[in-house]
Amino acid sequence: MNPVDLRSDTVTRPTPDMRAAMASAEVGDDVYGEDPTVTALEQRVAELLGLEAALFVPSGSLGNQLGVRLLVRPGQELVCDSLAHVARAELGAAAVFSGVTFRTWPATRGRLDVEAVRGLISPDAGPYLVSTAAIEVENTHNFGGGTVQPPNQVAAVQELARSHGLGLHLDGARLWNAHVATGTPLSELAGGFDTVSVCLSKGLGAPVGSVLASTAERIVEARVWRKRYGAGMRQAGILAAAGLYALEHHLDRLADDHARAKRLAEALGADPVAVETNIVVLDVRDAASVAVGAAEDGVLVSALGPRFLRLVTHLDIDDDGIDHAIKVLQPLV
Ligand SMILES: Cc1ncc(COP(=O)(O)O)c(C=O)c1O
Repeated sequence: MNPVDLRSDTVTRPTPDMRAAMASAEVGDDVYGEDPTVTALEQRVAELLGLEAALFVPSGSLGNQLGVRLLVRPGQELVCDSLAHVARAELGAAAVFSGVTFRTWPATRGRLDVEAVRGLISPDAGPYLVSTAAIEVENTHNFGGGTVQPPNQVAAVQELARSHGLGLHLDGARLWNAHVATGTPLSELAGGFDTVSVCLSKGLGAPVGSVLASTAERIVEARVWRKRYGAGMRQAGILAAAGLYALEHHLDRLADDHARAKRLAEALGADPVAVETNIVVLDVRDAASVAVGAAEDGVLVSALGPRFLRLVTHLDIDDDGIDHAIKVLQPLV
């Protein structure tokens, strides 16, 4: 039996039908703007998000970094919550490549709270303090445990940003999950942000790829920076075809991942109400030893802190996999 791999929704393998779509994709040189499948994917994502234009990039990290690059100048700061992927898990890329500093607010389960943001920002800070240039929001929130951001807080943060002339970047790596969990249209979830990045290689199950969406003008600039970072891709339609296939066939089924995550949480004594999408966070006595013990019985989970265990459901986990994970994990947690 293959291991039941709950470490992340990035571990999925392309299905036979997805591979067939990739193999038959029409391609061209995308650095010349001549790959019809990449162009179709960019147009499709822009349309779904209600934005003017989009750019195919190899990873969610690059989507975020291009968004930050467009909104924040060197020596300015981006503010976000302390568990945000862009601050915690992109290896300081915003500092290394864009000269951007961060300040962060603490957030329970990554949930947005406009008062925390209001207390942190310092727009137009003059010659002594770092000026805030943009605010970043993550929806759903990965390290928060798949949290869907409350719409009233998103609206309030957007109003705050507008009133101070600040940019807004949305890390929507799992925006698809927020859409399926709430029924809110993607264009509404992406509305009001200046730049939005979404991932195709997480819950949607494509092997590679993310998309940055924004105004047509910003995407022209992002295209230049993508090439400058060495991420201009040639016959990338083979990869974009997987993304188009995933949007067509793997979006609605995210509801199955959400139901399985809830079942897992319930069986392992976590609060199923806290499980809003496909991520289960468990507070255990010794996360590392639970991970090692589970791996011995073919269940892989992530120990992301001394007590912090993360389990993620996805396309390659079925009901039998959940049953096995419950059997193995119950005595360990
Ligand atoms: C919320 C969030 N944003 C961005 C990323 C980065 O994506 P990638 O691994 O494709 O760079 C991840 C990856 O897990 C993520 O969870």
